Amino acid sequence: MPLATATAHPNIALTKYWGKRDRVLNLPSTPSLSLTLAPFAATTTVRWGAEADRFTLNGRPADAEEARKVFATLDRLDPRRPRCEVRSENNFPTAAGLASSAAGFAALVVAADAAGGLGLDPRALAVAARRGSGSATRSLQGGWVEWPLGDAPDGADSHGVPVAPAEHWDVAMLVAVVAAGPKPVGSTEGMLRTQATSPYYPAWVAQAPAETAAARDAVLRRDLAALGEVAERSALRMHASMMAAEPPFCYWAPASVAAMEVVRRLRRQGVGAWFTMDAGPNVKVLCAAADATRIAEELRGVVAEVVALHPGGPARVLVRGD
Ligand code: DP6
Repeated sequence: MPLATATAHPNIALTKYWGKRDRVLNLPSTPSLSLTLAPFAATTTVRWGAEADRFTLNGRPADAEEARKVFATLDRLDPRRPRCEVRSENNFPTAAGLASSAAGFAALVVAADAAGGLGLDPRALAVAARRGSGSATRSLQGGWVEWPLGDAPDGADSHGVPVAPAEHWDVAMLVAVVAAGPKPVGSTEGMLRTQATSPYYPAWVAQAPAETAAARDAVLRRDLAALGEVAERSALRMHASMMAAEPPFCYWAPASVAAMEVVRRLRRQGVGAWFTMDAGPNVKVLCAAADATRIAEELRGVVAEVVALHPGGPARVLVRGD
């Protein structure tokens, strides 16, 4: 039976996807822009033809909901597919607390396309990844990636598109690890609650397109201060929208606030560092690669661990075989 292995990196958004205008198609209410980050990666093998659909994650059978999403993704790629075996591993230190789903779904669609000899258009793969998990559509591309709203009713034009490759700009993303435990509110649930109940949500949606355009511009000009300022605003506005939800929720821990304060102090001292946060307490810090060691040192004063990431390339096939 044919099989293929593919790999993909995670990504961190500088302007955030938070809200869905279509839950079934998984279409976003906000455009977003991210950076694909190495060396973390998910590596996924799909065997096209097996006794039963089976999905293992890091060597263990995955939970039922994860398996359902994986096989629904394969069904969308090929409704007449045979049963498949899917094995996915990732090298994310658990402590980094980064979601592996974006890299996982990106590697899955690339591996399935190769294993099944489907020859699908890259845009079709990016749409299938989006339906698995929205942020996954950005992990198919390397470097700086925009996920536009799109306007096709079927969502065919809402997927990650490259803005600039990994080599475009020598930046680093530091992950200040605050906690690695399971999230109290998952990102899907969190964004749905925010859009259903937060009075700030319409304002969040309204300001997002201009912010993503400004982020794209800053990336193309390699203007780190401009990008950093947009990124902090996007993160803070997204988190403000959740704090105003009903019931409210907040991913910040005391050490998250301390890490943000370190970043602000460094900036007052003339060091270029800007933070962002996602659906968890860890703080990610964008800086020039040349400043990463010094900034990591300062962050270690308030968090136990800091992981340094750098721009990574696109998802790709590693092995094809029988
Ligand atoms: C805060 O992509 O995990 O990281 O589409 O429901 O699977 P689903 O959501 P997901 O949400 C990511 C939210 C975020 C912001 C971002 O990555 O843009």
